Amino acid sequence: MKQTILILVLVWGVFFGAASQNRLTVDATQDGPQISKYIYGHFAEHLGRCIYDGIWVGPDSPIPNINGYRKDVFEALKALDIPVLRWPGGCFADTYHWKDGIGPREQRPKIKNVFWGGTVEDNSFGTHEFLNLCEMLGCDAYISANVGSGTVGEMVDWIEYMISDEDVEMANLRRKNGREEPWKVRFLGIGNESWGCGGNMTPEYYANLLRQYSGYAWEYARDRMVRVGCGANGEDYNWTRVLMQNARGNMDALSVHYYTIAGPSWNNKTAATGFGEDLYFSGIRAGLRMEELIRRHSNVMDEYDPRKRVGLYVDEWGIWTDVEPGTNPGFLFQQNSMRDALIAATTFDIFNRNADRVKMANIAQTVNVLQAMILTEGGRMVLTPTYHVFNMYKVHGDATLLKASLITEKYAHGDQSVPAISQTVSRDAEGKVHLSLSNVHPAKEVKLTVAFNGKQPARVNGGSVLTAPAFNAVNTFDKPETVKPAPFMNYKLLASGELEVTLPPRSVITLEMQ
Ligand code: AHR
Repeated sequence: MKQTILILVLVWGVFFGAASQNRLTVDATQDGPQISKYIYGHFAEHLGRCIYDGIWVGPDSPIPNINGYRKDVFEALKALDIPVLRWPGGCFADTYHWKDGIGPREQRPKIKNVFWGGTVEDNSFGTHEFLNLCEMLGCDAYISANVGSGTVGEMVDWIEYMISDEDVEMANLRRKNGREEPWKVRFLGIGNESWGCGGNMTPEYYANLLRQYSGYAWEYARDRMVRVGCGANGEDYNWTRVLMQNARGNMDALSVHYYTIAGPSWNNKTAATGFGEDLYFSGIRAGLRMEELIRRHSNVMDEYDPRKRVGLYVDEWGIWTDVEPGTNPGFLFQQNSMRDALIAATTFDIFNRNADRVKMANIAQTVNVLQAMILTEGGRMVLTPTYHVFNMYKVHGDATLLKASLITEKYAHGDQSVPAISQTVSRDAEGKVHLSLSNVHPAKEVKLTVAFNGKQPARVNGGSVLTAPAFNAVNTFDKPETVKPAPFMNYKLLASGELEVTLPPRSVITLEMQ
């Protein structure tokens, strides 16, 4: 009898539009942690066409530029308000000797980029070019120091060169090279992937090096620089444990790297375009694994640092697919689809929900490499779907997280499923509430009821939606606007004061409320 009533209620709901089964209850009675703006951070490595072609074309290029920086790319990054840029790698960082990249450009030595295609690096983009770019963009600089093939002396010289205002040799060398005032350099990474391309170290060995490098970095920079210990590869929780056990007092943050692979394995990543629903689903599901990684690394960190002094920085993340056909495999140039935009949105939701520990994240990479914001070809540029997600989510940067509980239907594929809806709700310094929602279901519109416990926003100021004709849709140089945001109006305030939102299939939405 009970069952019959339930079925009747459901049938009635389907036909007569009863409140949806999907429900988001926002707790506006108490503030959650602040969502660090650095979660929306970026990463640019000397890899393929990220720096050269992508960011730097040199002052003599026929491509319109501002003192050597591509004008179109610069303006697109400026519009994104990027909070932090990590450089020069990546694996490249542990082969980089910074003195090669200063002084007159025509006199800088050429080196082989051993990790990325064996190309010749002419060092025309170096410390001045990077730090001046950060100043022009108004973002913080995150320098990755060379631990794998460098020395402590090299690192402290670099620190002095960049931030000292004293009458010392390195600061004077900087002045001689045309820069009087020191730059502000907020973040210092001590090695990159020291378990792999950065030196093939054990965690115990690296922990000792971190203590050593970090101690000297402190002497030269004090608290002007945040020292970031090199963290784990994906689910290597032992690396995090050993670092927290042996060197938690020698770092201000610890990193972790996780790349999403849609294909069956690292050696079979599959194409960025033209994929079917199997690879759509597996990409979304693999992206969501970030939640478990963050939780488990955070749990280990909590054991040693319950007050959460040491931030967790996901300073490389994103989807890694096969390169575009016909391009250099060492350049990691890949397209970027609506699927990847959804991976970005759902990953941001995971970072935001864990904002008490996750204090920075840097997508790999900014231009022309992996899950890029921007692709370039000669003088042409295209903004990827991921760029638009960054633009829609930046409102959460430095806002207060509002904790929320979500009841969501599933998106099932074969015998597996993932939650259809993902969310972030935050309140900014002006009191505006931003609600970001994604529907990863590739074909089904979903309705969501949003209720607030505590102060209920009185109105919706507006919103935008990112969706596409297909989950594998991309922006190309010939059709650059296939995936782009549009105004979103498919919501209504119910008499109960609750909000009902109808999310199109494969969509990301951000609403502003007050
Ligand atoms: O982002 C590409 C590469 O991925 C980086 O150089 C390295 O740190 C990671 O393995």
